[in-house]
Amino acid sequence: MALRLLQLVVLVVAAAAGFRPGLANPAAVSVLPGLPVAGLAVGFYKETCPQAEELVLAEMRDIVGRDRTLGPALLRFMFHDCLVRGCDASIMLVSKNATGGERNAIPSYGLRGFDEIEQIKAKLEEACPLTVSCADIIVMAARDAIYLCDGPRYDVETGRRDGKVTLAFDADNDLPPPSSNVVDLKTYFSVKGLGWKDLVVLSGSHTIGRASCSTFASDRLYNYSGHAGQDPSLDKAYAARLRQACEAGLANDTTLVDMDPISPYTFDLSYYRDVVSNTSLFLSDQALLDDRWTRAYVERMATAESPDEFFADYVVAITNMARIEVLTGDNGEIRKVCAAHVD
Ligand code: HEM
Repeated sequence: MALRLLQLVVLVVAAAAGFRPGLANPAAVSVLPGLPVAGLAVGFYKETCPQAEELVLAEMRDIVGRDRTLGPALLRFMFHDCLVRGCDASIMLVSKNATGGERNAIPSYGLRGFDEIEQIKAKLEEACPLTVSCADIIVMAARDAIYLCDGPRYDVETGRRDGKVTLAFDADNDLPPPSSNVVDLKTYFSVKGLGWKDLVVLSGSHTIGRASCSTFASDRLYNYSGHAGQDPSLDKAYAARLRQACEAGLANDTTLVDMDPISPYTFDLSYYRDVVSNTSLFLSDQALLDDRWTRAYVERMATAESPDEFFADYVVAITNMARIEVLTGDNGEIRKVCAAHVD
């Protein structure tokens, strides 16, 4: 009896630590946090499409090998899918409606990855027809994008199904603009069930990738707070460099700037160092210094010797994000083509 109890305790502790016996390719960091969501499971396709995760990784290696800027793009893609109507691939749908779908919304500006998600889907359709959802592909592609930028590799839950509705209006409402202050940011996240820690940890995603001048130049370089001039909190030497890249008065300047100038394709702690040294791009990044809790986290990560704590926190936060309003079981559908036309 005592032995059985001990075995039970060992199993519970192992499960809490994310250890799953029999799972191929155990993740380097694999703590799946919080309460599980009904219908989602690590290895959901184990019986129906056992090669699904390997196929996604192989495609991602090919995609990022061809163009490394697509790694960060596909991480952002997951954020835009999950925050709007949940992680249901509604970002992929094409709407004929006059106001358009999520992909036509203002915050989708510069969003890339549509063709790549479709490329991965086509591979999975060849291997396992009508089995793996587009929503899961988006989550797996983001996981692999992080890994291919030297970030943590973690287990992902799968079992999501695809939504059938896409409205630009939802994306306009649910995605925070880069001009957000910290109160706004916390509100945008909290309505989706994410807390301040998820906010400060997931903002660390801006350690990779690029942004177009139009998303920050006005707020930070030329027209801070509606007055001509630079944001006084932005480092002056850095602002001067940014002004060379981004032309004044050009509202639709599509010039791209690395968000972390030191290591734009390495998933590391530099984002937090950028924020404390006033060399982050968006007001929404700088705003993390205006709240006691987010500031303390930024400062701790900026001086941390190893990324271990950030990586462990990131796995928790991105798993929380991957669980937002998911469709499982009989809800939603499994589509053959992700970018299907609706309405
Ligand atoms: C906290 C609120 C956030 C705001 C206001 C914000 C805003 C933005 C903006 C304006 C861009 C530049 C887009 C462009 O010009 O093409 C961007 C890029 C990016 N964002 Fe965020 N973001 C936020 C949170 C997140 C989260 C939670 C993630 C991921 C989990 C993320 C991942 C990325 C990545 C990887 C890029 C680079 C994309 C690329 O290189 O193509 N962001 N973000």
